Amino acid sequence: MLEEIKQYAKDHQVPIICDDGLLFLTKVIEEYQIKDVLEIGTAIGYSALAMASLGCHVDTLERNEEMFEQARNHMEIYDQNHQVHLIFADALTYHGELKTYDLIFIDAAKAQYQRFFEKYKPYLNPNGIVVCDNLRFHDLKPENVNRHTKQLLRKIETFKAYLLEHPEFKTTFVDHGDGMSLSQRKSI
Ligand SMILES: C[S@@+](CC[C@H](N)C(=O)[O-])C[C@H]1O[C@@H](n2cnc3c(N)ncnc32)[C@H](O)[C@@H]1O
Repeated sequence: MLEEIKQYAKDHQVPIICDDGLLFLTKVIEEYQIKDVLEIGTAIGYSALAMASLGCHVDTLERNEEMFEQARNHMEIYDQNHQVHLIFADALTYHGELKTYDLIFIDAAKAQYQRFFEKYKPYLNPNGIVVCDNLRFHDLKPENVNRHTKQLLRKIETFKAYLLEHPEFKTTFVDHGDGMSLSQRKSI
């Protein structure tokens, strides 16, 4: 099932989590016995279904209609146990109902990571964790990119510094995937 969606993503140039990133996410889910996940950035449902296959329940937000429809098609076929709840919304402005989660996986517009983090951290269980993807952003160097990408790279660096300095969370960065972070609440 996941292989088929991966092939679809490749054929249609849909960005999805890479194998190594998924391996890291899988380890986190197993090690921390994650049950409930909030995902920001569904795309076509690949990572959501991967997490569901590990036994998780996933609420996942997507703002792009085409992606959302494709994710819905995939859920109809593959989400037999109804573990994935698709939400068509912009995560920056969403005000609908949410529960609390063991894991928040942020994998959407890179320039907005800090806003996602701040908006959704109240929905984290006391021992919950936040994982972010694409923090290395393909290892692009500021000197080789246009102004827009340069700004994006700067925002990602600012976000990483924000995470490191966050008084409530302890963050580690890992080289898996396209550069990922794992933030855990500090114990009081
Ligand atoms: C990298 S893709 C997600 C990949 C998916 N997590 C996976 O690995 O299968 C990022 C997705 O986030 C969506 N996105 C970006 N900003 C968003 C926002 N503010 N609210 C909801 N979705 C957003 C994009 O439309 C895109 O489909």
